[in-house]
Amino acid sequence: MRGREHWSSTVGFVLAAAGSAIGLGNVWKFPYITGVYGGSAFVLWYLISVIVIGLPVILIEFALGRHTQLNPVGAFRRLAPEKPYWLIGAMGVMAGFIILSYYSVVAGWTLNYLFKAVITGFKEYHSPQVAGEAFKAYITHPVKPVVTHLIFMLLVILIVARGVRMGVEWINRILMPVMFFIILILVVRGLTLKGVSPERSAFQGLQFLFHFDLRQLNGRAMLTALGHAFFTLSLGMGAMLTYGSYLHEKENLLKSALWIAVADTLVALLSGVAIFTTVFALGFEPNKGVGLIFNVFPAIFSQMPSGEVVAVLFFLLLLIAALTSAISLMEVVTAYFVDERGWERKKTVWVWGTVIFLLGIPSSLSSGVLANLQFLGMNIFDFLDYLSFKYLLPLGGLLMVLFTLKRWKIASFLQELSRGGPNWSGKEKIFTALLVLSAIFVTATFVAGIWGIG
Ligand code: TRP
Repeated sequence: MRGREHWSSTVGFVLAAAGSAIGLGNVWKFPYITGVYGGSAFVLWYLISVIVIGLPVILIEFALGRHTQLNPVGAFRRLAPEKPYWLIGAMGVMAGFIILSYYSVVAGWTLNYLFKAVITGFKEYHSPQVAGEAFKAYITHPVKPVVTHLIFMLLVILIVARGVRMGVEWINRILMPVMFFIILILVVRGLTLKGVSPERSAFQGLQFLFHFDLRQLNGRAMLTALGHAFFTLSLGMGAMLTYGSYLHEKENLLKSALWIAVADTLVALLSGVAIFTTVFALGFEPNKGVGLIFNVFPAIFSQMPSGEVVAVLFFLLLLIAALTSAISLMEVVTAYFVDERGWERKKTVWVWGTVIFLLGIPSSLSSGVLANLQFLGMNIFDFLDYLSFKYLLPLGGLLMVLFTLKRWKIASFLQELSRGGPNWSGKEKIFTALLVLSAIFVTATFVAGIWGIG
């Protein structure tokens, strides 16, 4: 058997991990929740959330991965062979299957809209109503969403099959700089748009996003920020653990984690600026997620100066964000079969990539022919989303923190953290306190999820 592959450089690793973190969540979820939950007051609390629960958990995942040089299941099994701790990893691999199966469906929608943008520039979508009907016709169609889901999964498979360096690292090295560049163009375009009337301007978009309102920052808002900090950094299912397992020991884990958190937050904020300056300058209403992206934006592009070009850039941005996150989900599944089952990489990716495609078919039809297939009052797509982000990820993250505190021990964690960076040994007390605090916060988001808050 060949030895484990490793990233060719720190930059390659940081770009790949940032690619995983920066996903659809940054571009369509963060800007909206910021706007409605109190603007810059929410942003401040979100930054605290990233520091209190994001950083500790990402460091634990990196350390577990690098220390064991194994996939999530193997990592726990190696460190604690006598007890079923490996179930934490198994839950992560399962979450990888589930999340990728429906993430790929939405990614397929963005791919479809990228084609549309290139071909038509959305010229015929004069209003959100017209665009909304076209979107509905597409997602309820019995074949089209399955086809776009298939094309997207093929992209993921082709890239991941090439390996860690030649596939995952290679594509992130190309796409991440492109993505940053696109965001900058969209931000400048948004800020320089002239408002359609004296009452509507790009500046109002900034106000919506950054107004400081402590009253809007209620308990629900605070829990939403905590949950989002977790989700946006791809934590709780071993994605970062898997990427960490391809690291050499000379890497400074804390420094890399900080870079990733900063890049992720920056992209979220800049997406917010690009999106809401544009929405407000053109006189539209801020709206949530799917509706904003697929109903309001096509209408905006049909009216906006140089709208055809901006439309292509915008959907390309979404596609890149989705693709680099999907790759990390596929890599978790792949690492498991390669490490634990001794499968060959190419075979693993093709076989399980196909299975994930098949698993995603019900989700891709969940607005159309399978709309009546309901679980707890949700269609299959919403149900899987709910199950993974409300339960599997926070629970996985909590168990990882508890595992580090109780079983792996803080001293071993700090020893791993210190390899390739400043020496943290002797700081056990502070780190224990930090981990206990993050465990409390993760538990809060988890419990809030069960109670339907946030
Ligand atoms: N971070 C991704 C986003 O912001 C979504 C995500 C959550 C994810 N958990 C993940 C991606 C695990 C890959 C692996 O959209």
